[in-house]
Amino acid sequence: MPLDLMKEPKTEAVNGNKLAATSSGRQALIDGLNEDLAGEFQAILMYIQYSAKLTGPFRRELRALFQAEAADEQGHAQFLSDKIAAMGGEPTTQPRPVPHASQPREMLNCALSAEIQAIADYTTRISQAEACGEIGLKVLLETQLADETRHKEEIERIIAGWCEAAPDRRRVEDPSQDTGGEG
Ligand SMILES: [Fe+2]
Ligand SMILES: [Fe+2]
Repeated sequence: MPLDLMKEPKTEAVNGNKLAATSSGRQALIDGLNEDLAGEFQAILMYIQYSAKLTGPFRRELRALFQAEAADEQGHAQFLSDKIAAMGGEPTTQPRPVPHASQPREMLNCALSAEIQAIADYTTRISQAEACGEIGLKVLLETQLADETRHKEEIERIIAGWCEAAPDRRRVEDPSQDTGGEG
């Protein structure tokens, strides 16, 4: 058998393996984007509910921040839904569960955890998108990653000044600050 004919089946097998790897990579990317979408729905619900429940002297400022972040997350959710549908997937309608919080500081902690999770998730998704040759998606995910980083840093800045702004809360939250002789 001529050499070139002997090679052909092997090349086909390699191409077949590549195709299978590409399609499993694309499916993993779609699944991952759906996890991100569930996270965005959680963030929208979380910021809306927290902005409604806020009490205390910082209600106005925190409400404005939470509402602005909810609007960003809605844009992210729309983008992800569009992309999942365009890739042939079914965009989820199920959010991740929203953590219960009553006090503003608890809300900030929960929001910070969600933003850190979103940053980690988008970091993974950007690598997957690049591996699948989805460069346009990669660039737009980087923009969303930048938004989540801004959200995270803004919340961190608020938490960093929390004790100074609300010294009474420090005693309640940090038992080591309770001298025991004030009551
Ligand atoms: Fe988001
Ligand atoms: Fe965010």
